[in-house]
Amino acid sequence: MNELKIVVDSAKTAFEQAGTPADLENAKALFLGKSGRITELMKGMAALSVDEKKSRGAAINLAKQAIEAALNQRRQALADAELQAQLRAEALDVTLPGRQRGPGGLHPVSLTLERIEAIFGSMGFEVAQGPEIETDWFNFTALNTPEDPPARSMHDTFYVEGGSAAAPNLLRTHTSPMQIRHAVQHVKKYRAAAGAGSSSEALFSGSMPEIRVIAPGRTYRVDSDATHSPMFHQCEGLWVGENVSFKDLKYVLTDFCRALFESDDLVLRFRPSFFPFTEPSAEIDIQFQSGALAGRWLEVGGSGQVHPNVIRNMGLEPEKFIGFAFGMGVDRFTMLRYGVNDLRLFFDGDIRFLSQFQ
Ligand code: PHE
Repeated sequence: MNELKIVVDSAKTAFEQAGTPADLENAKALFLGKSGRITELMKGMAALSVDEKKSRGAAINLAKQAIEAALNQRRQALADAELQAQLRAEALDVTLPGRQRGPGGLHPVSLTLERIEAIFGSMGFEVAQGPEIETDWFNFTALNTPEDPPARSMHDTFYVEGGSAAAPNLLRTHTSPMQIRHAVQHVKKYRAAAGAGSSSEALFSGSMPEIRVIAPGRTYRVDSDATHSPMFHQCEGLWVGENVSFKDLKYVLTDFCRALFESDDLVLRFRPSFFPFTEPSAEIDIQFQSGALAGRWLEVGGSGQVHPNVIRNMGLEPEKFIGFAFGMGVDRFTMLRYGVNDLRLFFDGDIRFLSQFQ
């Protein structure tokens, strides 16, 4: 019987030494498998007498049961250890401080837009919004831009699906289509107020409150370098009434630029230029008298007196109504305000750059 005790003891030792469930199954095969020690002992009984078989068989069976019990015990121990390890790995330290979400902030371009709206708001301008996917009519034709390619490819345009072959839809190349969209709505309102008799076909020559509006928003051109991005921001301005002149344009823009840059000695220059939708037209340049940019002329936008054809496309009688319009680069203003020299930084979405403006 000593021999059986040795087998049982060596099985227990082998199971104890098995560090993983796989090791344990291998150790099990050595004792309980088809050619394991217990099976061999059973086979060894063939030559014994019936009585000897009885007592020998019972003893081997006890040994087998002892080995199985040891195996199950070790299986359970390994499973417990694994569970403990898993629980430890997933442990939650409730004493750690919570993960905080820092406060967000506005994009520098949005900050400039807010300021632009506040300043023009204080001068009696309302704010209009319009679509970024425009029709050929609003972006070009209604703005007196001729059909022939040179004038239209001036703004290397992103054309998009929709519209017709002759008049495709496009991503607006400037905010100027909002001049037409807003004015048409304005005229419609006061034409209705003027009552029956005024045909909606005829140009309106009744009385109406002046149109005084800005239209800030995203614009698109095929252009990309340190000072141009394919998506950029403009702010359109329009003032139409019965007695509005170029001098009004000058003081509005001068007051606006001085307020935006908080500098009273900022100087504006109106440089003759050409836009199909204004006549005369002028480029707007500004010059700081102090600071890093002192003395340099910086172009910030275009402007001019609204062309009579554009006044007509607004539904207004050009003999009665006159006005001016301007379009300014909002990103340019933002670069100048904050001393940023690469426009692309605004649109890279790098939080290290953007968080400096909070
Ligand atoms: N739309 C012109 C541009 O994008 C700017 C402009 C607006 C000029 C209004 C005159 C009047 O360049």
